[in-house]
Amino acid sequence: MACLNILRYPDPRLHTVARPVAAVDERIRRLVDDMLETMYAAEGVGLAATQVDVHECVIVMDTSETRDHPIVLVNPEQIWQSEEMRVAEEGCLSVPAIYDKVERHASVKVRALDRQGEGFEMHAEGLAAVCVQHEMDHLRGKVFVEYLSALKRDRIRTKLLKKARDEPRDD
Ligand code: NI
Repeated sequence: MACLNILRYPDPRLHTVARPVAAVDERIRRLVDDMLETMYAAEGVGLAATQVDVHECVIVMDTSETRDHPIVLVNPEQIWQSEEMRVAEEGCLSVPAIYDKVERHASVKVRALDRQGEGFEMHAEGLAAVCVQHEMDHLRGKVFVEYLSALKRDRIRTKLLKKARDEPRDD
């Protein structure tokens, strides 16, 4: 397995729309394993393939306290959402050290393929609901800061561009 480089906002590649995975094969399983390693190393609760510059519909997440319940979603589709909305504070591995409130459906049902290519359905609420909606946005090329005001977003962009200039990464 290998740790992958995570794209950082405002990298334009984060706005790429992912294409569906044609077959859950060895290549996809390797991607899934690398994404899980990357997510755990970065102490994130979710990671979309978009964030590691692979533009195919793959998400990994683990919202368990014990960090030992990895969930793999290939070609996820939201098939139901609650009318009830909830506001929660979100962060993103592509937007380091920035947290802000976003309103989303309180619970959702998602259909996807797992690491073996088997279909399953997941009912998510609480943190898992926030996480899966956030990650599915990544696959559509959307970063959570796009829910914030233009003023806030500009501040975040300026801050992260300055940070990238002051602390260049060796990648
Ligand atoms: Ni994110």
